[in-house]
Amino acid sequence: MALVIYVNNRTIEKRHVPYHRSLITDSEIEAVVATLRSGWLTAGPQTTAFEVAFSDLKAGLPCVAVNSCTAGLFLALRALDLQPGDEVITTPMTFVATANVVQHAGGEVVFADTAGNSMNISAEAVAERITPKTRAILPVHVGGNPCDMAALMEVAEAHRVEIIEDCAHAIEGEFAGRPLGSFGMAGAFSFYPTKNITTGEGGMVSCRDAEIAHRVRLLSRHGVDKGTYQRMEQEGEPLYDVVLPGYKCNMTDLQAAMGLAQLKRLGEMYLRRKEIFAKYEAAFQGLDMVDCIDRDVRGKSALHLYQLLLKPEVLVISRGKFIAEARELGVELSVNYTPIHLFSWYRSRFCAVPGAFPNAEYCGMNNISLPFYPAMSDLDVEYVILVISGLLNKYHR
Ligand SMILES: Cc1ncc(COP(=O)(O)O)c(C=O)c1O
Repeated sequence: MALVIYVNNRTIEKRHVPYHRSLITDSEIEAVVATLRSGWLTAGPQTTAFEVAFSDLKAGLPCVAVNSCTAGLFLALRALDLQPGDEVITTPMTFVATANVVQHAGGEVVFADTAGNSMNISAEAVAERITPKTRAILPVHVGGNPCDMAALMEVAEAHRVEIIEDCAHAIEGEFAGRPLGSFGMAGAFSFYPTKNITTGEGGMVSCRDAEIAHRVRLLSRHGVDKGTYQRMEQEGEPLYDVVLPGYKCNMTDLQAAMGLAQLKRLGEMYLRRKEIFAKYEAAFQGLDMVDCIDRDVRGKSALHLYQLLLKPEVLVISRGKFIAEARELGVELSVNYTPIHLFSWYRSRFCAVPGAFPNAEYCGMNNISLPFYPAMSDLDVEYVILVISGLLNKYHR
């Protein structure tokens, strides 16, 4: 017999709604199998086709496929040729990869606070952190919601520094009609399983021009001047030159085949995200126990995350306990993010004290991310709404 639970004065059948499930169809499976049968597994024709298809989404900018967004950000920063002491300003409200790569690329991370309840970096806070050593601003479009790119571009232009966008969440996103990832020197996208499209693991770098794309590509394949497919399959010429000491960050054709199949369904999956988003907004907007995320009206969100901010002054339950109770009722929640400066390594490195970035800390301590993905059924969505609103009512002060 199905287990029943009592929420919001109703008895309902218990369900399990995981935090995430990728929507993989026969088209992805057939594409990967065809590539396995093709005899060419690593970067080759599928990777090139995926780059071209992705470039169409990004106003025709040259795109380079890599093995993760982390690698993409790193290569973009390496392409900038950071020198010791060069500073890159980013947000503490992101996945730690964003800040780690600055250090891997030889730079110094400088954090700037976020704006209000937007989760996104504040252009004013960035302007205050600019020094003669600043080389780049690294904004993150958290949850797929565009940063204020107009204000960030103004700061970057005034101080002649580059912008490298962390677009891990932002495939479908736009700001003032312009695709995210097209504002600066480069943008890096993620195809990790929880992202809006997945290749298992993978990433893409959109580049301002062919020269930057060329540099990122060289860096992604050991600094070798011609890819293996071009040399061996197209030109029949095994010899190559190494023009700089690069890294090993290329995508494979297996990943790209999957990415191409996912990309074909991007529109349909985005529509489903919109439907779920509308149901969540209708349920949670206006409740006095939570704040919804502030979104810039000039932007189109990629609708990657659905987050709420629990209001500690209105609720008599800690976030940890809230997450645990939701889990007991079958709903898995996540947290995006704990502000980076509060992690032990960063705390000791920057001597950052709680209170250094108040907006990021408030959002970091109180956010919950709800299950939010196209593979959810209507019943899943309704169940999440019932469980979350039930807990909010139960613990209302
Ligand atoms: C904001 C942000 N930046 C960068 C990354 C790194 O992406 P990847 O796992 O593709 O390296 C992630 C991954 O979760 C992310 O959420």
